Amino acid sequence: MQTSIISFDRFNTLKDAEAHERIRAAKEKLGKRVVLLVHHYQRADVYQHRDLTGDSLRLSRMASEVDAEFIVFCGVHFMAEVADILSRPEQIAILPDLAAGCSMADMANLAKVERSWRELTAVLGNPDELVTPVTYINSAADLKAFCGEHGGIVCTSSNAPKILEWSFAQREKILFFPDQHLGRWTGHTMGIPLEQMVVWDPDLPSGGLTPEQIKNARMLLWKGHCAVHQMFQPSHIANWRRANPEGFVISHPESAFEVCRDSDFVGSTEYIIKVVKDAAPNTKWLVGTELNLVNRLAEEVKHEGKLVQFMSPMVCMCSTMQRIDPQHLAWTLENLAEGRVVNRITVPAHEAALAKLSRERMLAVS
Ligand code: 13P
Ligand code: SF4
Repeated sequence: MQTSIISFDRFNTLKDAEAHERIRAAKEKLGKRVVLLVHHYQRADVYQHRDLTGDSLRLSRMASEVDAEFIVFCGVHFMAEVADILSRPEQIAILPDLAAGCSMADMANLAKVERSWRELTAVLGNPDELVTPVTYINSAADLKAFCGEHGGIVCTSSNAPKILEWSFAQREKILFFPDQHLGRWTGHTMGIPLEQMVVWDPDLPSGGLTPEQIKNARMLLWKGHCAVHQMFQPSHIANWRRANPEGFVISHPESAFEVCRDSDFVGSTEYIIKVVKDAAPNTKWLVGTELNLVNRLAEEVKHEGKLVQFMSPMVCMCSTMQRIDPQHLAWTLENLAEGRVVNRITVPAHEAALAKLSRERMLAVS
């Protein structure tokens, strides 16, 4: 039985240097019992403590492969849920700060998706025969379970084209949530005309669409977006290209359609890092994704004469990813080292089984 938890109040005012010291000491005490999975967007002062790092797809694979008793996820809530779903029952997934959600993931919820499905039924008959529900991995576990139950699938920013291909092979239409931009860009790369990809506004009756629009659409794009990536504008690219005509532009597919269209390369965080690292020395890059990743990448490649610049003149950090700080990490690990589990993320078994099904379909396809 666990003794009482050390309150976070005692860590809130901890100086960074002490927090780092205590993180290292707790990690050493826990040894192989703990693994820190750290997303590319994590701040530098947390990233330095990583055991493993990657994009959402890579981290989800790692969560299913690691042996540690405690998987401490330095990322956002849906990522820790995926770790819980994919790890063995005796393993424990932990999110150091429960306020680290993903604002885009929160733009879709089960009640709204189920209502949308009923509204589609009213127009199309049985959507289970005509519409494949596809959820971006940036979504709550119950939405992944919804997809599992309705013949749908999960995708990530690395495998979206293959997943959409599979989805269209099952049924003629796709309901894609929660990120309209990833859905639209991927559909576009597959040759689907923009007018056949309509925005489904879950706050309006029938998504704000007429029955004709719904019947004619190939993709119904949930009206959701990432607050960080929507800051990037085509004018940022145009201005930069004027000053750097020989440079390259690379963006994450959560960016607006026009930004992806004007970029030379579009792909996941892992893809962005690989393309820039593999590029020729002395090349110049404008990068449209979260600032922590861009700053780190710029440092890592500058010895090769590569110049990496951030796309927006404004600071665009993922404020929820930022919630994981050395103080929360020290609090989490010290409690674990003392035999107390804090901030465990648990997905109910029936939901986890269905969510796993939609994720297994994804892995089989990609
Ligand atoms: P990646 O899967 O590319 O790491 O993206 C996750 C994410 O949240 C991007 O905003
Ligand atoms: Fe969510 Fe956007 Fe943050 Fe990614 S960058 S975790 S999509 S809010």
